[in-house]
Amino acid sequence: MAKSERRNLSFAFRFSLFAFKIFCMTDRVNDLWPELMWINDPDLREKTAATWELALQKSVLTPEDLNKIPFTLLAGPDLKVSFMAHKRCVVHVARDAGNKMNEFFRDDLPVNMDVLIAGAILADVGKLLEYEMKDGKSVQGMYGKFLRHPFSGVSLAEQCGVPAAVCHIVATHAGEGDMVKRTVEAYIVHHADFMTFEPFRERLK
Ligand SMILES: [Fe+2]
Repeated sequence: MAKSERRNLSFAFRFSLFAFKIFCMTDRVNDLWPELMWINDPDLREKTAATWELALQKSVLTPEDLNKIPFTLLAGPDLKVSFMAHKRCVVHVARDAGNKMNEFFRDDLPVNMDVLIAGAILADVGKLLEYEMKDGKSVQGMYGKFLRHPFSGVSLAEQCGVPAAVCHIVATHAGEGDMVKRTVEAYIVHHADFMTFEPFRERLK
């Protein structure tokens, strides 16, 4: 076989391997997030999925870990609710709330459902960079201490071309967002997140 043929074959093999890896990763993101299909705009759906792909590539956590580790480190050692169960619940609560607000206030306070759902899916994507694994348990690493997930989430999303209105939701969904004005979509995600978190941390029994 000629040298150029060998080179072409090797390039074709490496390209196929790369394409296969991307295909598997995309498949894993779609498995993690069936809610991606609720985003009507295909471009926004693709950029939202790409942000999760990028986070998974950079993270020590696997999709299997995300279905296993507790969603917060602030609700004690007995918390059983997984990271993905909480993240998906927030998206479901946000979508239902957005639909109800459009039903009752459409002309006065319209909610952009694509922006809302993409923002809810991406709100905690930066947490994939916040965690480190120690003795089989997820703990906050130094990167996460310097840059909490609203910051790292925006960085990941911007690298994937996610529009500013969606990055705004990522940036403001947590306590940091109390310092700025939120859009209506950001308010919904913020409350959907906190109403499904605070009672785990502390509630009247
Ligand atoms: Fe968060």
